[in-house]
Amino acid sequence: KLEIHDYLESTNTYLMKKISSGHAHASCVVANLQTNGRGRRGRTWQAGLGASLTFSLLWRFQCGAAALSGLSLAVGISLIRALHHFGITQAQLKWPNDILIGREKLAGILIELQGDMEGPSTAVIGVGINLNLSTKIKQQIDQPAIDLASAAPQTINPNELLGVLLNHLAEVLRSFELQGFTSLRDEWTKHHAYHQQQVRMLLPDGREILGVVQGITEDGNLLVETTSGLQKFASGEISLRGVV
Ligand code: BTN
Repeated sequence: KLEIHDYLESTNTYLMKKISSGHAHASCVVANLQTNGRGRRGRTWQAGLGASLTFSLLWRFQCGAAALSGLSLAVGISLIRALHHFGITQAQLKWPNDILIGREKLAGILIELQGDMEGPSTAVIGVGINLNLSTKIKQQIDQPAIDLASAAPQTINPNELLGVLLNHLAEVLRSFELQGFTSLRDEWTKHHAYHQQQVRMLLPDGREILGVVQGITEDGNLLVETTSGLQKFASGEISLRGVV
């Protein structure tokens, strides 16, 4: 089921409100304009009309939220596969789930969950991909950003991009349901922009930890070799920054 709205506050907010009224599994909601698009860690997703492809997908899982820890990384793989389909082979992942070109952000993912930790659960998977950012919007974004208009080898039709991406998402989500993140882990690592690179991990209490990225665990945690040994970081409130 695909719904396309001229504008919505946020496609994630819209679908989160629909979960309890039995909205169908695999429903997708697209907004041409979001008036209050949301990002991870309380950020906003800035986009004017036509500036980015913004949509959310509702996916019902038999497993509980506790088993979905690697989900946001799995979703990142579907974006990489879709971008490769359009020849954007330079796109890479940044843990936990940003899509970068070089060191600039092309797309972001916001996953929100509802349900029991152990019982059935529902995910609202929100995706924003920069299509064509004005200088004004670029200035409003709190980090370097890039759009498909400047990164793609040819003009990409956003409807076609959505179609290709939804197919990859469905495939990745089915594989995640059957095998968790395990079967996707090598592919994820291959595309990680910071694999074996020096990084700073920014913790919610303001501390920073320096180290070198070693890989990813089967539940999507990042493994970093630090001065106090190998440390494991869970996503949530932690941010990764490259060290140049
Ligand atoms: C991030 O990079 O912090 C995540 C950004 C996610 C943005 C998308 S746009 C569609 C969906 N609706 C929202 O309000 N947010 C997500």
